[in-house]
Amino acid sequence: GLPGLVDRFGRVATDMRLSLTDKCNLRCSYCMPAEGLPWLAKDAVLSADEITRVVGIGARLLGVRELRLTGGEPLVRADLVDIVAALRAAHPDLPIALTTNAVGLDAKAAPLKEAGLSRINVSLDTLHPETFAQLARRPFFDRVLAGIEAAAAAGLGPVKINAVLMRGINDADAPELLAWCLERGYELRFIEQMPLDADHGWTRRGMVTAGEVREVLSTRFRLSPDPRARDGAPAERFEVRPLDGETRDGAPSSGGQGPALGTVGIIASVTEPFCSDCKRTRITAEGKVMSCLFSHEEVDLRGLLRSGATDEEVAQRWQEAMWLKPKAHGMGHTGLGADDFVQPDRSMSAIGG
Ligand code: GTP
Ligand code: 5AD
Ligand code: SF4
Repeated sequence: GLPGLVDRFGRVATDMRLSLTDKCNLRCSYCMPAEGLPWLAKDAVLSADEITRVVGIGARLLGVRELRLTGGEPLVRADLVDIVAALRAAHPDLPIALTTNAVGLDAKAAPLKEAGLSRINVSLDTLHPETFAQLARRPFFDRVLAGIEAAAAAGLGPVKINAVLMRGINDADAPELLAWCLERGYELRFIEQMPLDADHGWTRRGMVTAGEVREVLSTRFRLSPDPRARDGAPAERFEVRPLDGETRDGAPSSGGQGPALGTVGIIASVTEPFCSDCKRTRITAEGKVMSCLFSHEEVDLRGLLRSGATDEEVAQRWQEAMWLKPKAHGMGHTGLGADDFVQPDRSMSAIGG
């Protein structure tokens, strides 16, 4: 039958990322403008039934093996728990993850676990409430912490924390953020800021690079490559150990040779791109296939879903969309300086990350 979601460069997409809404209750400056964006009308967004159908087509006909629910902020959808429950009922063995800002997660973590959610990734860029309020433009730091704790308590771990560093705002917070995550057993990943902000304010200079992240972490920790296979994942993982002479719990230091305190990931989308191993296919909240975070061509599935098309017809359109997947984002090492790179119109919030 169908050969799956293959592109012209031989990559096969088995990792599906589905945006449930374009709305968000934060306004992180690297993503959304302060005033928000013109939100999609309610009937423009895929319904819970349409979502269940699309995931079914991906998993049964097109070789999707992993699902991640994204936004905007997926928790703003009142039917999120029902959506997870329906997906779990249809796909008992499919890993279903959620990427969230954790605002409101304190009340939803246990029901999400109960409904069958597998695991959770939370965005948290700083441990300072004032810096949080400056970056996210909303004073919800305490709610985010409560959400993270609830997710860990509900068994939605190992919780992963995503942090985007902004020069002069939260870049100095990196070591303390790592120490905090290590103490709690969360896996922290630093993400290079990508030019996917609605304000088009990204600059090469403003971006804190993976190299700089490794450098600042090395002032407090010893990093060594994680021996586990990367397997197309955006994050390159490192084992973290204390520096020579540092002690943990008052015990004598093992000089950076003892057991790892945990791991840290670095997602170097700009300076060390991983496009050649990309396994991702994205569906926006209004049912468009985005073959790449940076693709300019989108292929609509919603029209087919709403006009009586068969599952096979939807699957074929999805495959055609993936055939258009670019080889790479084209930023090169110079970022926006590359001749062929044009920032897409959609912001991260309208794609889903
Ligand atoms: P797991 O490691 O499986 O937990 O998931 P993940 O890292 O794919 O999930 P998450 O949604 O937390 O993604 C983290 C960030 O990595 C995203 O927000 C993006 O910034 C970046 N990222 C994920 N996928 C891609 C991709 O295909 N291309 C690029 N350039 N960046 C990506
Ligand atoms: N560059 C990199 N990561 C981003 N995110 C949002 N906007 C950007 C950007 N411009 C991240 C958030 C969140 C995930 C969904 O995407 O930190 O963890
Ligand atoms: Fe995949 Fe595009 Fe991301 Fe590269 S930029 S890793 S091709 S989605």
